[in-house]
Amino acid sequence: MPEDHCVGYGREPYRALCADYPGPDVYPRDDFRVEWGPVFHRGRLDGSARVLVIGQDPAQHETVVRRILVGEAGHRVQGLLRKLGFDRSYVLVNAFLYAVYGQGGGNRHRDDPAIAAYRHRWLDALVGEGGVQAVLALGGLAEAAWRSWLETPAGTASDVPFARVTHPTQPESSSGGDPARRAAATAAMLETWNTALTRLRPAITEPDLDGPLEPYGAAFVDGDRRPIPAGDLPAGTPHWMRARSGWAERRGDTVAQKRRTITVTVPAAETA
Ligand code: URA
Repeated sequence: MPEDHCVGYGREPYRALCADYPGPDVYPRDDFRVEWGPVFHRGRLDGSARVLVIGQDPAQHETVVRRILVGEAGHRVQGLLRKLGFDRSYVLVNAFLYAVYGQGGGNRHRDDPAIAAYRHRWLDALVGEGGVQAVLALGGLAEAAWRSWLETPAGTASDVPFARVTHPTQPESSSGGDPARRAAATAAMLETWNTALTRLRPAITEPDLDGPLEPYGAAFVDGDRRPIPAGDLPAGTPHWMRARSGWAERRGDTVAQKRRTITVTVPAAETA
């Protein structure tokens, strides 16, 4: 059966944005993993996006696939988009083009004018397409990115409904491996997701999917995490890279080695 794939960055202004992106002079090597290159977006760049998601920064899965939000956070966001009524008409960008390195790097560069200037060009383009009916920010740095854009000339003219939710992997990052704390953080996070769904759903006039809003419970259940659609990823991406997460890991015995190494493990079932 023919498989869909992302058509890439041939259309302007995205072509020019990908040809001319900020490097280590703007994203310092001490705070960002610039050596792995920028990861720009995921989703529609043809004006059909109805919802814009702003994430934080790419991690190891995104670094391999060259599209954002494809690991565990991406699977959770895909489920959230579905509850909002979308399985195709969305676009996702991160606050940062490169993975943050070390503690506090993200917050240190939250208001960095050169980082913001390039990100504003993306937001100008995406919101300027005219179809975006809702904006969703994943966490504080994403919200700051959106609020910074709202102060630009194009942003001042925009009244697109907005909601901030807790970042999809905050329960893991905040719970230090304690299952009870992770469960409590997940329940609290999903409350913020339900609040955002209730706020944004009425603003959507052209969802991809009809049906009543099905809110989250206190924990993820089957179907709440969704695979990444083939149409979002470069041609030829193997299906297991989008079906689940956990196949990419940063590895190394020293900090330097870990910074230089991502291992990709094909699920055993694929080679049996
Ligand atoms: N991956 C991304 O691309 N963005 C996030 O915010 C988290 C993981």
